[in-house]
Amino acid sequence: MSARGSRWLAALAAMPLLVGSGVALAGDVEAGKAKADACLDCHENDYFAGVDAEEIEALIRAGRAGEFEHKADEIRELAEEDIADVAAWFAHEGAK
Ligand code: HEC
Repeated sequence: MSARGSRWLAALAAMPLLVGSGVALAGDVEAGKAKADACLDCHENDYFAGVDAEEIEALIRAGRAGEFEHKADEIRELAEEDIADVAAWFAHEGAK
């Protein structure tokens, strides 16, 4: 097996840790812009002003889990992998 192959294995092994910490894999602001579109019917760009991306992500997850009443289904229709991007975008907009 090549050195390259073993680097891949090491990267794969590290991945669940990164996802779990929520730190290393920050959301993609650009990608989040389009994905947040469904939220903007009701939420202004700066709705989460002063809240950092990690907290916004936690709020979205709480909404999906039914921990608070959210009148729009959009929050549950977000794909799992889009949550961090949407949170990053709202954090970016709110920091302007
Ligand atoms: C149809 C309107 C509507 C849409 C669309 C919508 N929301 Fe909301 N959302 C609300 C309202 C209204 C509240 C305040 C709580 C309530 O009365 O339901 C809220 C509250 C929240 C909260 C709770 C935190 C807080 O400060 O109140 C989060 C998180 C949230 N929305 C995220 C989202 C995300 C992410 C999307 C897009 C995927 C989205 N919402 C789409 C109407 C909407």
